[in-house]
Amino acid sequence: MSATKTIRQATGPAATRLLGVGAYRPARVVPNAELVEAIDSSDEWIQQRSGIRSRRIADESETLVSMSVAAATEALASAGIAAGQVDCVIVATVSHMLQTPSAATAIAHELGTEQAAAFDVSAACAGFCHGVALASDMVRAGSAGYALVIGVERLSDVTDVTDRGTAFLFADGAGAVVVGPSETPGIGPVVWGSDGEHYDHIRSREDWRDVVASDSPRMPHLVMKGNSVFRWASYSMAKVAQQALDRAGITVDELDCFVPHQANNRITDTMVRTMGLPPSVQVARDIVDTGNTSAASIPLALHRMITEGQARSGDTALLVAFGAGLSYAAQVVVVP
Ligand SMILES: CC(C)(COP(=O)(O)OP(=O)(O)OC[C@H]1O[C@@H](n2cnc3c(N)ncnc32)[C@H](O)[C@@H]1OP(=O)(O)O)[C@@H](O)C(=O)NCCC(=O)NCCS
Repeated sequence: MSATKTIRQATGPAATRLLGVGAYRPARVVPNAELVEAIDSSDEWIQQRSGIRSRRIADESETLVSMSVAAATEALASAGIAAGQVDCVIVATVSHMLQTPSAATAIAHELGTEQAAAFDVSAACAGFCHGVALASDMVRAGSAGYALVIGVERLSDVTDVTDRGTAFLFADGAGAVVVGPSETPGIGPVVWGSDGEHYDHIRSREDWRDVVASDSPRMPHLVMKGNSVFRWASYSMAKVAQQALDRAGITVDELDCFVPHQANNRITDTMVRTMGLPPSVQVARDIVDTGNTSAASIPLALHRMITEGQARSGDTALLVAFGAGLSYAAQVVVVP
């Protein structure tokens, strides 16, 4: 038997932070009025139940790849990092229409990252925060110098426009951040998990094999048990968000911005109340004219808060994302 060899393991910098944020919003604005006939609804009902007034819907030219490249290019420019310096591209999405290869490899190539590792993360609306946690840990472990995390969706491809429970909620867009080394901690510990007991609460309607075997194949649109998801998110996610604050070592009074997944303004309201966030905390309300863009919702909301001056460089922001799985992830970050 040969003697056990000692091998090396990588180590990286002690701390990481977000270095830049970018966003892409499709050009076409779709107000509630355009959707209501197909779902026997009204602008008033949609606004009152969800907070949404309009959303952005991608056209044929606004692909998962093109929207991601636009958001990532802005994030890289604001971070002052060249595409060639990126070692890993993580793409969170549920609307990439190819089972394989990943969207990330095509996006990395378009960006010109020069052989960066690239893979997709399937954690639905929680995917972006999963990606940030992975990227931060990779950089700290020395597996990547800089990592790009993109949340992107064309949910219009997987939404049934006649479904009363989802047609008015889901929308399209992309957001991106660059994660890299930092002198001081800028990404707090992630609090994440899954509740597979509710695996069927948000899902594709059919398995692809059933679609193919069907006499009248149709897109396996997203279906959702809206009421159950609403209750779960409203009451469980405030606890997860509070744990993320505790693990980062800050109180609600030290928090500057709250950026929850833009699922429904009423869920956000309940979380703000349950956590007892003071009025000084700026709360993201991007959903009003963006809708629910799943993995893209948090970077889009954070980008808006930065560009509209609600979030300033150095502020602390609490991110909390949740969705199909049911899966969730939350962390405190310092605004770049
Ligand atoms: C989708 C959602 C807005 C629906 O609201 P709700 O209050 O739960 O709606 P319900 O299904 O209980 O229906 C309530 C009433 O509104 C009606 N209704 C349902 N959808 C409607 C629509 N699109 N337009 C008008 N009326 C509608 C129902 O028929 C019902 O009428 P009734 O009281 O006369 O029977 C809500 O469940 C929700 O936001 N859930 C969470 C969704 C979410 O965040 N998902 C993403 C997580 S990632």
